[in-house]
Amino acid sequence: MAAEKWVYMVTAQTPTNIAVIKYWGKRDEVRILPVNDSISVTLDPDHLCTVTTVAVSPAFDRDRMWLNGKTKKHSCEKSVIHLVTESVSYILLIENLEISLSGSRYQNCLREIRSRGGDVEDREKGVKIEKKDWERLNLHIASHNNFPTAAGLASSAAGFACLVFSLAKLMNVEEDPSQLSAIARQGSGSACRSLFGGFVKWKMGSKDDGSDSVAVQLADEKHWDDLVIIIAVVSSRQKETSSTSGMRESVETSLLLQHRAKEVVPKRIVQMEEAIKNRDFASFTQLSCTDSNQFHAVCLDTSPPIFYMNDTSHRIISLVEKWNRSEGTPQVAYTFDAGPNAVLIARNRKVAVQLLQGLLYYFPPKSDTDMKSYVVGDNSILKEAG
Ligand code: DP6
Repeated sequence: MAAEKWVYMVTAQTPTNIAVIKYWGKRDEVRILPVNDSISVTLDPDHLCTVTTVAVSPAFDRDRMWLNGKTKKHSCEKSVIHLVTESVSYILLIENLEISLSGSRYQNCLREIRSRGGDVEDREKGVKIEKKDWERLNLHIASHNNFPTAAGLASSAAGFACLVFSLAKLMNVEEDPSQLSAIARQGSGSACRSLFGGFVKWKMGSKDDGSDSVAVQLADEKHWDDLVIIIAVVSSRQKETSSTSGMRESVETSLLLQHRAKEVVPKRIVQMEEAIKNRDFASFTQLSCTDSNQFHAVCLDTSPPIFYMNDTSHRIISLVEKWNRSEGTPQVAYTFDAGPNAVLIARNRKVAVQLLQGLLYYFPPKSDTDMKSYVVGDNSILKEAG
């Protein structure tokens, strides 16, 4: 390995995903192994996504990470990665946004990906890294979410998926997306599903080491591209109970969770796979809505109870239910993660426009409700930037 002050880097962009059959509960907290399978839809990478730049240099003295710094395309003297002499193009990190990498989730991901690193050579930049070098070379990581972090919009899903994906590119790791998903899963369970676009299933697996607890693609993003996903941001405040601690409490105290994981979800997974395969919107809606409602019922069945939805969320549910009933056939599916924000899936663009009009009418921005913005996105694939 040459001793010059080179920096070698990769930038990737990864969308978040929204579960339509929810993951809630772990059977192994360290390896992040779930109590049931789950199914999600991956959003368009240009809407809710994480952009991560990973850099390696012999001059870096330790692994470091910055989250949600301001981004800029060109390096300058004030950049945190200030060891580069030539002007290079990468995401610039601004001071004070460094986060600790000491947590076991980061450490597990970094260890796993490093052990799979391959040889890398970039003659133009004078970079030559051998497989064995990855254990001792340090990394700088800059990550940016284009949406609120920890507000129940699956920021950790996009974040860990992007981290693992960008490191795999940097280190020339030759694993397929399913194998990478098993690494991302150790950062955050839902992250494993963001390694694919379209509809994705996270198989809970049965092995103790978690090697078969991986994500697989059920259908790509073109399979059902009539669907339009609208996220009604009811509140972008950080949630009081994180998904991790919430689901731990549910596993410890909710009998409904046991019933759901063993009796309900296995059947729903089969039905949902069928609905997706056949683009059967009525079944898709029925399964998504009831699964979301059961997940929130499990939260209420937890002791002490966890309230993720608020009055505005409940009003959105009523509105959609009434609309679907009055049309005779479902037009919109809803699902809510660990927060009050509504994820609404319209059967096509025409319905999406009507839905947006309805939302703006019933929840006008700057009214006494706290719902302020809407994000529209089609489902699409994971995209490598730059
Ligand atoms: C309600 O993946 O955030 O969004 O594995 O502890 O990091 P950890 O939890 P996380 O939980 C997501 C829960 C959910 C449902 C889902 O995405 O399936």
